[in-house]
Amino acid sequence: MYKRFTAVLCVAVVLCGCERVDPDSPSNLRKAIFKDMLRTSERLGGMLRGRVAFDGQAFGEGATRLDTLARQPWQHFPPPAEGERSNAQPAVWQRQARFADLARQLEAATAALHGQSQHRPLRAGELQAPMDAVEQACTACHREFRNH
Ligand code: HEC
Repeated sequence: MYKRFTAVLCVAVVLCGCERVDPDSPSNLRKAIFKDMLRTSERLGGMLRGRVAFDGQAFGEGATRLDTLARQPWQHFPPPAEGERSNAQPAVWQRQARFADLARQLEAATAALHGQSQHRPLRAGELQAPMDAVEQACTACHREFRNH
C-alpha cells in the first residue's frame, strides 16, 4: 500500500515537473531569444577576433539580426508566477526603471553596430569599438540582474 502511494506521488511530481518546462512560458521564450543573441554576437565577435574568417556580408546580416533580437526579450518578463524559478533576479521587477535603462542601452549599442556595419567597404577595425560596446551592455545587465 505504502509502495503504491509512493509510486503515485512520483508520477505526480514528474507531471508537475513537465508543466514547468512549457516551451511557451515567458522564461523559456526569453531564454530562447537570449541564446540566439549569444550565438549571433559570438559569431560577430569571432569574426573580429580572427577566430572565424571576416565576411562583410555575413557580418552585416548578423548585425541586423542582433539589433532585431535585442528588442525582443523584454516583453517576456511578466511578474513571475508563484514558485516560478529562473536566473532572473527579483531585482528585475523591483528596479524596473534601471532594468529598462540597461535594455535601452543594449538597443542603442546594437543600433550603432548595425549602423556602422552598413558602411561599405566594411572594415573589421571600425567594427571593434561598437562590438565591444554591445558586449559591455550584455555584461552590465547580467552583473546586476542575472544569477550566475
Ligand atoms: C537589460 C538586461 C539584459 C541585457 C542587456 C542582456 N541580458 Fe542576457 N539575460 C538577462 C536576464 C535577466 C537573464 C536571465 C533570464 C532567465 O533566466 O529567465 C539573461 C539570460 C541570458 C542568457 C541565458 C539564457 C538561458 O538559456 O538561460 C544568455 C545566453 C544571455 N542572457 C545572453 C545575452 C547576450 C548575448 C546579451 C547581449 C547581446 C544579453 N544577454 C543582454 C538580462 C539581460
